[in-house]
Amino acid sequence: MLRVDEVLRRDGVADDLRSVINHTLIGCKEIAHKLSQGELAGILGSTETENVQGETQKKLDVISNEVLKHVLSQDPGVRGIASEEEDNTVAINDDGKYLVTFDPLDGSSNIDVNLSVGTIFSILQAQQPGSGDDMALFLQSGRNQVAAGYVLYGPSAILVLTTGKGVNFFTLDRHIGEFVLTKEQVKIPEDTKEFAINMSNQRFWEKPMQDYIAHCLQGEEGPLGKRYNMRWVASMVAEVHRILVRGGIFMYPWDSRDPSKAGKLRLMYEGNPMSFIVEQAGGRSTTGREDIMDIQPEDIHQRVPVVLGSKNEVETVMRYHLQG
Ligand code: AHG
Ligand code: MN
Ligand code: MN
Repeated sequence: MLRVDEVLRRDGVADDLRSVINHTLIGCKEIAHKLSQGELAGILGSTETENVQGETQKKLDVISNEVLKHVLSQDPGVRGIASEEEDNTVAINDDGKYLVTFDPLDGSSNIDVNLSVGTIFSILQAQQPGSGDDMALFLQSGRNQVAAGYVLYGPSAILVLTTGKGVNFFTLDRHIGEFVLTKEQVKIPEDTKEFAINMSNQRFWEKPMQDYIAHCLQGEEGPLGKRYNMRWVASMVAEVHRILVRGGIFMYPWDSRDPSKAGKLRLMYEGNPMSFIVEQAGGRSTTGREDIMDIQPEDIHQRVPVVLGSKNEVETVMRYHLQG
């Protein structure tokens, strides 16, 4: 069985980038351990604080953020980090080449009910000299990512990783404390009959999304001509993982609940890394109108509408938007 670092070496990934990935994974293994202890470690429940985006932080949001910040600060190759749970970018080492952005705990509303959560990360290269707390360094489109991945903390902990040479799955072998290769060159089926969306927001969506979902619900009698199934885990990591395994389409579109927000999900911590993984697995990822990875970010915490998954189904949703 190949360990993740052996696969990265085999794929010719640069030593300093391997080091950044390996440090990130040390953090993920620690998070996996803490999650497995749950109530025993007294780490469930919420804090008294909100993050910069006005969301109540769970204790494990804060703990996971601290774990990743700590391990990444040990790597001299890291210039700086940006996290969903940090107000500002954080400088690590001015000589470092890499910038790491992460969602330390995704799907955190699932923590207290013992359901799947994950960690999402994205690695960029700094394009000019400067301190790692300079936000301008981070404002690069998703096309510049040199690596992206997530760890799904489910019945087993699974790492899904791309360095731009396809997508591989690794399963955490808790006896040896290593992620080992369990599936190579994963490809998302191009067609699907399974959609994932939070239906409770239906009345707030734009017309193209309303129409698409209405047609899905009409099944084989509707214009899409097929009977759909629906899933909603409320953890993007779990939804994307299901799509990588058996196909599907995941949507968190713009809605009018708070018109100032472009969507719920964050471009730098969720949209870009997941889009890189999905495209590397042969899927597509769009806002409905443009590819997510083509967006020029203006703020590290910027939000984005997300539609991703099986290529042909995502392209169907794009047609609704382009015509509507
Ligand atoms: P986070 O826990 O990092 O804030 O992200 C949760 C995200 C995403 O994982 C999930 O798809 C979505 O929010 C769920 O939102 P709803 O609670 O609106 O369904
Ligand atoms: Mn998230
Ligand atoms: Mn989060």
